[in-house]
Amino acid sequence: MGPIIILGVESSCDDTALALVQDTPDGWRVLARELSSQADIHKKYGGVVPEIASRQHAELINALLERLFGQAQLGWGEVELIAVTNGPGLIGSLLIGVGAAKAIAFAREIPIIGVHHLKGHIYSVFIERPSLAMPFVALVVSGGHTVLVNARGHGDFVEMGRTRDDAAGEAFDKVAKALGLGYPGGPLIDQLAKVGNPGAIPFPRALPAKDSLEFSFSGLKTAVMYFLKQQARDQSAFSLSDLAASFQEAVVDALAEKTVRAAGLAGVKQIVLVGGVACNSRLREKMTQRAAEAGMDVYYPSPELCTDNAEMIACAGYHEFKLGRRDTLRLDVHPSLAI
Ligand code: KG4
Ligand code: ZN
Repeated sequence: MGPIIILGVESSCDDTALALVQDTPDGWRVLARELSSQADIHKKYGGVVPEIASRQHAELINALLERLFGQAQLGWGEVELIAVTNGPGLIGSLLIGVGAAKAIAFAREIPIIGVHHLKGHIYSVFIERPSLAMPFVALVVSGGHTVLVNARGHGDFVEMGRTRDDAAGEAFDKVAKALGLGYPGGPLIDQLAKVGNPGAIPFPRALPAKDSLEFSFSGLKTAVMYFLKQQARDQSAFSLSDLAASFQEAVVDALAEKTVRAAGLAGVKQIVLVGGVACNSRLREKMTQRAAEAGMDVYYPSPELCTDNAEMIACAGYHEFKLGRRDTLRLDVHPSLAI
């Protein structure tokens, strides 16, 4: 199969993302990307409001598509495959991306393929590193997901563990909200923690059953809330940066510990970190350190490919296409979808 141009569409949460990518013999070429984040709109609610998110996608997507093709100086006829996220995610948000993708596929008679959002995140690592080969264990860690996946080969993904309650990014966002820092909270806590002492407050490590690969972050979140109440009651002063660093360290410890364990169980030497929380500087540092102790390597994409984007969807869709998978215009959305 020669180099083909793929249109990627991602609208599963609060980012409307589009990309035109080309698979070339030297790797992935991103011809154009458009991304509109709704973070500023959802900020005042402290989290994503589904109804507002879908309405925003609907208002933006056509103009973004026009801009994307203008930027790439390509005609619609040059696209040979459309890859679109069809789950998991917010149903109203997913419907806008899938609806737009189907309309283009129908009008232009281009093949369409639905992509699992988490598989998309996993493929984000190949865009800058096309020579990386499976098997590896991927930690997909974002505002909506905390999942360990044994990526054994293209089309061969096995879930090894996930969070029982909050996603790690959700814990970052909720704690940041309680601290009055703003939304999304992850990057703000990451920044603050740089000048804090991670050992200042001994928060519980979210490690349910030592030998399990499940995560749990709601106990840690409750411990932070309890600490804040206690401090308010005692009118005692504490350092916000120490609290941020201590909380972050507890999350990162759990993530690094379980991921290295999962890689050991899977018998692989490569760990891949993807999803919005994979931007976290302490997670990158600690995971690299823990993996090195276990003789493993860690790979993660640039920040703009860790958070939601459409390049990863195009890349994942293309690999499934190469495996022979095709969808039809009956392609449906699935708010919850197993990997
Ligand atoms: O992948 P993403 O854009 O969207 C989802 O699919 O959820 O991830 C967004 C999440 C938010 O919870 C945000 O707080 C978190 O990623 N995040 C971070 C950092 N940057 C983004 N969390 C911790 N540290 C960061 N530097
Ligand atoms: Zn995501």
